[in-house]
Amino acid sequence: MANDASAVSDARSPAVSDNPLADPFSPSADSALWRKNFLLGAATASYQIEGAVNEDGRLPSIWDTFSATPGKVLAGDTGAVACDHYHRWEADIDLLVSLGLEGYRLSIAWPRVMDAAGVPNRKGLDFYKRLLNRLKEKGVTTFVTLYHWDLPQHLEDRGGWLNRDTAYRFVDYADLMSRELAGTVDAWATLNEPWCSAYLGYGNGHHAPGLADGRFATQAMHHLLLAHGLAIPVLRANDPASQKGIVANIGRGTANSGSAADQRAAHLFEVQHNAWILDPLLKGAYSRDLFELWPGTEPLVLDGDMQTIAAPLDFLGINYYFRTNVASDGGHGFREVPLEGVERTQMGWEVHPDGLRDLLTGFRSTYHNLPPIYITENGMASDDKVIDGHVDDTQRISFLKRHLAAVDQAIKAGVDIRGYFLWSLMDNFEWAFGYERRFGVVHVDYSTQKRTVKRSAELVAKFLKERKARI
Ligand code: FCB
Repeated sequence: MANDASAVSDARSPAVSDNPLADPFSPSADSALWRKNFLLGAATASYQIEGAVNEDGRLPSIWDTFSATPGKVLAGDTGAVACDHYHRWEADIDLLVSLGLEGYRLSIAWPRVMDAAGVPNRKGLDFYKRLLNRLKEKGVTTFVTLYHWDLPQHLEDRGGWLNRDTAYRFVDYADLMSRELAGTVDAWATLNEPWCSAYLGYGNGHHAPGLADGRFATQAMHHLLLAHGLAIPVLRANDPASQKGIVANIGRGTANSGSAADQRAAHLFEVQHNAWILDPLLKGAYSRDLFELWPGTEPLVLDGDMQTIAAPLDFLGINYYFRTNVASDGGHGFREVPLEGVERTQMGWEVHPDGLRDLLTGFRSTYHNLPPIYITENGMASDDKVIDGHVDDTQRISFLKRHLAAVDQAIKAGVDIRGYFLWSLMDNFEWAFGYERRFGVVHVDYSTQKRTVKRSAELVAKFLKERKARI
């Protein structure tokens, strides 16, 4: 399914050939993307790009352990070297700046900056200080995620996110980082995609730490959200000028038929992917439908937790990739019914820009207090090759153009969306899929670490240059 090239090219050709003379990337003339204050940037994450896992006092993370376990990651790949960004960060930032990207979303590796006793690791901290200072010098807006899945292994050894104490350790970490880095960070995100940490990490075992129990997933989620809610006031106190938020991945579920059972299944799919996280954050309560789907998995919630979790946010980061078509499973749940003949990416994910627009406009009606939104990740994997020094990533160009159009439609429908980060700045370690899946707008040759700017990045750069010239 992932490499069904015929489905990809068949479905893609109409969109690309709409107007063969038009710039295949440039947004329409009336698009909100032309506005100066709409931030356009790129995103990465520490474990996916840094490498240098044993350097300068970095401790092991759950992803070091998981990727070293046979059978967990495709081809046995690990993040030990990745893009070697820890050593090449200066050139990588120069590249980002040369593309005219205005924002950079990065994450900090918790095991790099403090030890098991909470003692700061100066060398690790200095790495991020240098990086962020350079970004500031270059005028790049910085979005820093505190937790993009690389939990210190010593915390997992004490129960990880199943242990409430991990939430308090996270607050110590957030406290240290916001004291040390205040002034260089424009926006702090506590967590990246708690759905993935909880569900893939503790619910089905596809991600580190590889545990598989439904009750674990909901309890891990509760402690993740608690960690977030406890950290927000600490970040506010230490770094008042920055924005504070969280990043959630959202999933579009559509019903396979008009039957009431299939409609309910699509609703439950979205409850599991979206409301599980957004309801506690924005309504201060778990959706009761979640426990219809997963009976008997209610987490242990202490007095005051839900209020803590619902701490006001300055922004909500949204990551969107694909839509899932579902039908009723005959019981209380849903099952996926993959659609035939639709465009898919190298991941096998369906390309469905309308899903992004529809979810965003839906959230606007569901959550009366929906904060300003940044699309903190959107992008696609393709099997990109360097040919004569160039990478012609046609499907990505069309993908980005259509998703940016969907963002524009959501803005026109009244959703307050302030920026968009491409996932990713460069090809990197794609978790359980290792290095095979290439999400970057910059190609990385892992044998030489040579970076090659893909055609998509050239076109984004061209647009940004044109926008700058117009304003
Ligand atoms: C998201 C992750 C990110 C990357 C993309 C493809 O779920 O946040 O690290 O792997 O998917």
